[in-house]
Amino acid sequence: MTHPNHPLQRVKEKLHNQLPEKHLEKISKRWIRLGHVLLIKIPQELEKHEKIIAKAFAETIPGVRTVAKPIKPVEGVSRTPNIHIIYGDKKTEVTHKENRCYYIFDVSKQLFCPGNISERIRMAKTAMKNETVVDLFAGIGQFTIPIAVHTGAAKVYACEINPQTYKYLRQNCKKNRVEKIVQPRLGHCVSVAPRRVADRVVMGLVKHTHLYLPLALETLKESGGIIHYHETVPLHLINTRPFERVEKTAEKYGYKVSFLGITKVKRYAPGVEHIVLDAKLG
Ligand SMILES: C[S@@+](CC[C@H](N)C(=O)[O-])C[C@H]1O[C@@H](n2cnc3c(N)ncnc32)[C@H](O)[C@@H]1O
Repeated sequence: MTHPNHPLQRVKEKLHNQLPEKHLEKISKRWIRLGHVLLIKIPQELEKHEKIIAKAFAETIPGVRTVAKPIKPVEGVSRTPNIHIIYGDKKTEVTHKENRCYYIFDVSKQLFCPGNISERIRMAKTAMKNETVVDLFAGIGQFTIPIAVHTGAAKVYACEINPQTYKYLRQNCKKNRVEKIVQPRLGHCVSVAPRRVADRVVMGLVKHTHLYLPLALETLKESGGIIHYHETVPLHLINTRPFERVEKTAEKYGYKVSFLGITKVKRYAPGVEHIVLDAKLG
């Protein structure tokens, strides 16, 4: 039973005279709020009524000016979301605030994954004062910004291949007043990542991250450091595959590895988990 003051309850009350009870029951309990944009899933049987449902959400949740729905799975190397605006302001550039950091981006072009929030918060506590960090897949700064804002890191090199996303990355450095700490680099991380500088390497990519383990190790200081290796891994391989991949690369580069811990970020797909393995190489 939803609390009477819960936004969903208020949305249902608004729609009470417009939709039958069986439709009201189908309205999704989950939504994502990014700046002024609310993303909701609309079940197929409610598509005919999506405009009035979206309007009710916009009128109920303060600060929401746009209501949109995801229409296709996230696509491509840049992980571009596909959304359709159902109601309100067509402007999809948002300023989203989380953990005292600001993120400006276009909800229809850059992915800001709500499921990764625990990892963004963890990174803001994990990096150490005066460290040099390399973020190989910086996006709009999902990890770079909280590290630069909260940890006292001396330098964060942030690599991003997509020019539009890079533009927001730079803007976010300015907005969060960390331009002196962060050095954004536009291009393929293999070409633009600095070598032999990092105390810590962040590898926030899914699906193909293992292909970049050699680069991560080349980025570390010669004496070694810590890598945060993300992997989307079938549940039955969680305790083997990520560890073996890191171990194998470390061996090739003559490093000894100690594993500091494995963190579950989110369920990526049925039977597949997004994890981060923290490893110390030296
Ligand atoms: C899924 S986003 C993740 C952003 C952030 N690391 C996070 O986990 O929330 C991955 C980002 O890496 C960028 N990217 C993908 N391949 C890259 C490469 N080879 N070099 C640099 N950036 C890359 C994409 O354009 C995208 O912005």
